[in-house]
Parts: sequence; structure tokens; C-alpha cells
Amino acid sequence: MSSATEPLPGTSDCWEPEVLDWIELETAAREIFHRYGYAEVRTPIFERTEVFVRSLGDETDVVQKEMYTFTDRGGRSLTLRPEGTAGVIRAVADRGLEQGEEARVFYFGPMFRGERPAAGRRRQFHQVGVEAVGNDSPWMDAECIAMLSHFLDQIGVTGGKIKINSRGLPEDRPQVSAALAEYFTPHAPGMCEDCQRRLTTNIWRMLDCKNPACQEVAAGAPDLVSLMGDDTRAFFARVCQSLDSLGVDYEVAPRLVRGLDYYIHTVFEITHPGLGAQDALAGGGRYRIVLPGAKKPVEGIGFAAGMERLLLARASLGRQTTAVAEADIAIISLGENAILPGLRLAQELRATLSGLRVKADFTGRSLKAQMRGANRSGARLALIRGDNELAENVVLCRDMTTSEQQSVPAADLMAWIDERRTTLFA
Ligand code: HAM
Repeated sequence: MSSATEPLPGTSDCWEPEVLDWIELETAAREIFHRYGYAEVRTPIFERTEVFVRSLGDETDVVQKEMYTFTDRGGRSLTLRPEGTAGVIRAVADRGLEQGEEARVFYFGPMFRGERPAAGRRRQFHQVGVEAVGNDSPWMDAECIAMLSHFLDQIGVTGGKIKINSRGLPEDRPQVSAALAEYFTPHAPGMCEDCQRRLTTNIWRMLDCKNPACQEVAAGAPDLVSLMGDDTRAFFARVCQSLDSLGVDYEVAPRLVRGLDYYIHTVFEITHPGLGAQDALAGGGRYRIVLPGAKKPVEGIGFAAGMERLLLARASLGRQTTAVAEADIAIISLGENAILPGLRLAQELRATLSGLRVKADFTGRSLKAQMRGANRSGARLALIRGDNELAENVVLCRDMTTSEQQSVPAADLMAWIDERRTTLFA
């Protein structure tokens, strides 16, 4: 295969049977999220660049280094969505939310980040996410985390660790930032260039650096929540108490900040031991976003999980993708005259026998070649017709497993297959 046919680095093609695993995840997600009163939303894959810059924060790695941004023919700056929250908030705002009204939605879809590709880190990846917009209740945070945990159980991804923390409110930040500055300033010369810059631009992100030397320093930083105001601490305590009362297993991670700047109050992440270096299965939190041109911020809580990572985690637990045959029934037409009747028979079978896959061969190849194709497709039954069968109005039915064959009157064919359905296609 030439490199011209390979997908770009950090992207991949997905084929059956893997596609069926994706569909299964989506079906399970829909089923669970519907149970919690969430409805599905589909938003565009690209948005005005400012939707992301304003929402995620211009100091974040995603905005600074990872966005796929381009100018369209009308001279507008557009960006392929790097995450789902900003677009969903824009869509909710566009619909309009009355005072006191809520929107609870979920979504699936591709996201794009220009990161260095590695195992589990891709440039086009897929998220399943939820957003509950227009509420400011800590119980909502607890329910959201419990829903994520329920979803993971449902799809068989066990063994994840839920870590939670608080980012506090804007009014908590000056005293936390001051304490962080006091702690980090003497250590800064030994930290990476990014962290040295963050000391003045976004000191909280120094807690989140992936560089091992920086992580060692960050491990000794003060506990953020203890530095926050009474109301913030009470909010966080309510979230923790509610999770305890729901029986959700979690741990408080005092230095978890997450990489997006829209967060306030609760932030959380789920890591999984089956994922290797990129061990974040899902992440989320409460946010406050001011959209371009909007006067008031929108508040909500949500999370997103990487679909590829969910499947990797599930595979690490021994779950295997089941191969599915391309066809259950192969229709073999011998000679020009048999092709159109073969096409019609295939349609009739599909209309009558739901749940079976029917594949007709229109090549006019030899019987041997068509049988080889039928075998390759995994078909358990071949229906063969040439001039003789057409003249006699019969179909030659060949059991591909036992090689037994029988001539069946065309008028009886549907009933004949239906009677043998469980044995033939078990
Ligand atoms: P995030 O932590 O940036 O949060 O991404 C959520 C999940 O997407 C990660 O935990 C990971 O599983 C997956 N993911 C992220 N980047 C990649 C990548 N390059 N390759 C493969 N998987 C990846 C958000 O996106 C927020 N919008 C979550 C949220 C929703 N917060 C509130 N509401």
C-alpha cells in the first residue's frame, strides 16, 4: 500500500466489526443518558474560532497550540471543534434559555486537536459527552458524575478511578494564585519553559504540567480547596457528600485543575490503568462560559469521554471485538439470464426475512469463483440459479456448512428458509 492511501497521522479508518463496537457504545450511552432525562444534540463540526478562544481560554494548550484553524473563502476564521462544550453552549444560547430553564443534552462526534500522535492520543478522536446547562446546583454535579460512573459500568469499563477537585470561583482565585505564586516562585528556575511562562500568565496550569520534574514540584503545592472561601468549600463538600450518599467511589485530588479555563467549582477526571501513558478516560466539570457578544455568562456541568479510549480500556479488560459475517445468504446467478432474477430475489429476501444479510453476485463468474466469494463472505446458505433452475422455477439451496444441497420450488423458498432459520444461521 502506498503512503498516499494511508490516513493522515493521528487519524484512522474504522471498519466493521470495529464499527459495531462504536455503535454499541453509542447505543448504551443513548440508553443511559435518556434515563437521566438528557436529549441528544448534534452541532456543527466547525465554528467561528472565537467561540473556542473565548470559551476555553486563550492561555490553554488547546487554543495556543492545538486548534485546526483556517480562513474560509469569506475571510472568516473558522476552527474544527477541539471539544464539544463550547459548540453546545453556543447552540443552547442560540435557542434561548429562559431564566430558570435548563437544557440537558448529550452528543457524540469527532473532535480535532493538533497534538503529537501517540498511543491513545489522536488528532481526530471521538467524544461522547453531556452538558447540563442553566443550573448552579452541587447536586447536579453529583448526579452528573454518578451518571458517568453508571455509563462506564453499563459498557463494562470497570476499574476506572474518579478524581475530583474544585477550581473555585473567580473571587477565590486571587488568594489561591497568591499562595501558588509564593510556592512556585523559588522552584521556577528548575521547571520547564512553559511553566516559567505560566508563573505569570496562568499559574494554576503549573499544577497540570506533564513534565516529570514539574510534576515533582507540583506535588508539594498547597491544597487548593483549603485556600478558597466558605461558600466554595461548602459547595464542594455538598458534591462530595452527595457522591458518598449515592455510593459513588471517588477520591479527592487536591491539585487536579484540568486543562481548560472555563471551569469553576467541581472538576473531575477518570483515569484507567488499561490506557498506558494517556490514561484519562473522561474528564469534566462545572463551567461558566461567556460567549462572544453575550452579556451574561452561561453556567453548566458536563463531561466528555474519549470513545477510542473507552474501547481501549474495554479491550484491556479482555473484551474482544466479535467478527460478523458480511452475509448470511449468498445469491449465485449463473449466466446472463439469471442476474436480474437474482437481484429481485435478493430484494425479496431482505424485505421478508429481517435480520439476515443478503449479498448477490452480479459478476456472471463461474460457479466455482462465485462459491469462493460466498465462502469468503461467511454466508451459511447459497441460493443458486442458472437457466435450468429458472426454467423449472426452482432454487438450488446449498448449506455452506454441510455442503448438502436441495432443489426447492421458488414459491416455497421463503417458508423453506424461515423453517431452517435457527439451524442454518445459529
Ligand atoms: P478533555 O479532558 O479535554 O475535556 O477531553 C475529554 C476526553 O477526551 C479525555 O478524557 C480523553 O478521553 C479524550 N481525548 C482528549 N484529547 C484526546 C486526544 N488527542 N486523543 C484521544 N482522546 C482524547 C473536554 O473536552 C471537555 N469538553 C469535557 C467537558 C464537558 N467539560 C465539561 N463538559
